[in-house]
Amino acid sequence: MSVLLRVEDLAVNYGHIAAVKGISFQLQAGEITALVGANGAGKSTTLLALSGLLPAARGRILFEDEDITRLAPHEIVRRGVVQVAEGRAILATLSVGENLTLGAYTRRDRAGIASSLEEVFHLYPRLQQRVNQLAGNLSGGEQQMLAIGRALMAKPRLLLLDEPSMGLAPILVQDIFRTLVTINRSGLTVLLVEQNVRQALKIARHGYVIETGRVVLADSGANLLHDPRVAEAYLGG
Ligand SMILES: Nc1ncnc2c1ncn2[C@@H]1O[C@H](COP(=O)(O)OP(=O)(O)OP(=O)(O)O)[C@@H](O)[C@H]1O
Ligand SMILES: [Mg+2]
Repeated sequence: MSVLLRVEDLAVNYGHIAAVKGISFQLQAGEITALVGANGAGKSTTLLALSGLLPAARGRILFEDEDITRLAPHEIVRRGVVQVAEGRAILATLSVGENLTLGAYTRRDRAGIASSLEEVFHLYPRLQQRVNQLAGNLSGGEQQMLAIGRALMAKPRLLLLDEPSMGLAPILVQDIFRTLVTINRSGLTVLLVEQNVRQALKIARHGYVIETGRVVLADSGANLLHDPRVAEAYLGG
């Protein structure tokens, strides 16, 4: 196995508030890795730093051994690190198709873009059915599909997701998690941030538990799922 992304002693502050206090973890190429933890643990802050949207106060982020810690967000996207935004962040007044096309803004390979669109429609047939509808008229579940689809249009090598299950009905949560497994099987490395700890650890090869800006447990997803400390704190005993 090779390491795709390595985070070393990353610290991120909001002014004087230390949100991430020196966390280290790594993502193996081709795997789903989960970052789990309670409200305010620092999960979203970590993802924003990986995407270049918040500066690191300390530490390093290495993508394929290249130091990307101080790169601009678009330079990070161009290397293939693409985040599906929390709260969907789709463009409500544009059509589904236009939203998907925008996801490919860093690309110039027309044939490749067309085949990515095919893949997204294969993964989420509802998006194809609604390709000409305004994105704002989609249901919450469909908007989440669109947000993931748009990220896939960038042809990512690493997909970052911040709570894709948030606010969705349980049946839709299942759908979203199932498609993450499908996406991963096609070879894409996935970093999944979730408060839905059980579901995330079920599909993750490795997991890290974050508490107040620090990694407190690291193990395989299966081991964490059966760890009494995880069960007590995050799975309702
Ligand atoms: N814009 C901000 N300004 C100041 N403090 C912030 C800001 N955003 C987050 N924080 C603080 O940073 C810490 C980490 O927040 P973060 O959003 O990364 O946690 P999280 O693990 O994603 O939580 P959640 O599960 O609720 O999404 C928290 O103490 C939070 O209050
Ligand atoms: Mg968060």
